[in-house]
Amino acid sequence: MRISIIGAGYVGLVAAACLAKLGNRITLVDVDEEKLKLIANGVSPIHEPELDDILRHVKIETTADYGRIADSELIFVCVGTPSDKEGAMSLEYVAKASERVAEVLKQRTDYCVVTVKSTVVPGTTEERVIPLLEESGKKAGTDFGVCVDPEFLREGKAVYYYMNASRIIIGEFDSRSGDMLMNLYKDFNAPVMRTTTRTAEMIKLASNCFLAAKISLINEIGNICKSHGIDTYEVARGLGYDERIGSKFLNSGIGFGGSCLPKDVRALIAKAKQVGCEPEILEQVLKLNDRQALRMVELLKRHMQLNGTTIGILGLAFKPGTDDVRESRAIRIVQTLIQEGAKIRAYDPVAMEAFKKVFPQIGYTSSEEVLKSDAVLIVTEWEEFKHLDYKGRIVIDGRRVEKAREARIYEGVCW
Ligand code: UDX
Repeated sequence: MRISIIGAGYVGLVAAACLAKLGNRITLVDVDEEKLKLIANGVSPIHEPELDDILRHVKIETTADYGRIADSELIFVCVGTPSDKEGAMSLEYVAKASERVAEVLKQRTDYCVVTVKSTVVPGTTEERVIPLLEESGKKAGTDFGVCVDPEFLREGKAVYYYMNASRIIIGEFDSRSGDMLMNLYKDFNAPVMRTTTRTAEMIKLASNCFLAAKISLINEIGNICKSHGIDTYEVARGLGYDERIGSKFLNSGIGFGGSCLPKDVRALIAKAKQVGCEPEILEQVLKLNDRQALRMVELLKRHMQLNGTTIGILGLAFKPGTDDVRESRAIRIVQTLIQEGAKIRAYDPVAMEAFKKVFPQIGYTSSEEVLKSDAVLIVTEWEEFKHLDYKGRIVIDGRRVEKAREARIYEGVCW
């Protein structure tokens, strides 16, 4: 199929690469020409396993010119939807992309389907996107189609989870639009659910809220376990046998970060409040998550004064497998340690450059040098941290790295 993808972020770039690999003709549109140049040269601007390899072997047309999407059968909107100052979801980029697509629709005489893949709050496609697209003078459901196709990929394994999706949710404005997407995904081995656009939008947000809540709940249980001398990971193992609970996403520690979970929980809270709902659980999910990172510092203070010490940080990315530091727990922890008067020495296999943009003033070094600090905090569970020599050190472990138990003083956050 001839497909255009607007937005070369995680979702857009991974979709572009994977759909190109599957034999589709892809045009990728973004305003960031530097990024486009890298992609055109087969280099991924983000650290994501398999992506470089695919980009080297497929042909993707990259452009900042919306005019180039004029012959696409499918147009995916994959732009970012960050939090605004109040925590609500900013739809600014979605609106801008919709306006630009409308200009293209104005010129077109043939049918195409505009598909919202960006995570948006329920109602966005019907209330914002379609009216903007219809400014072209064309009618949704007649002259062009509209779908919502949320993306559930996980960073660090994005290609794998795109190709092996847990489910495909097709929110369709009308059945002809949905049929186009069904055709695109016909060879995917995943359950497909067809529904309305606003239900599809809600499924995506609700998924991330559920995952976030699961983490905050196991962390709360973990905090209680720690104070009773119980190992939360043993408890989680016992819980996991119950199919209704499931064994996944029960790793207690210092909570969730990243570009999706915190932002999407905030967005649903803000959206709920707009219509007079009090999202009490979701508010607590965020509150507990915020506090959880600081438990590392509290535990550390049981063993030493922080003022004037050098504290080593192992891991800066929000999770292993990525160089993404957005809302990483490391940010909150480093901020607090600096306030307490500690000097920081940090190491991450791939995220140091990204972290330098947030904290240029701290020291960046090797894992061996980090281990020589007065105490070491394990913030991200990178594989290589499972093979370091922790003997003789003081270690506060936020991510359950078993090898670190050999330390002279070892504290797990929830165990
Ligand atoms: C998440 C969703 O999983 C994915 O479906 C959605 O499309 C985008 O948001 P991602 O942000 O890539 O994906 O990361 P995820 O693997 O969900 O981890 C999020 C955070 O939760 C990380 O900081 C991770 O360390 C933390 N986490 C995860 C835990 O603390 N415990 C767990 O058991 C799992």
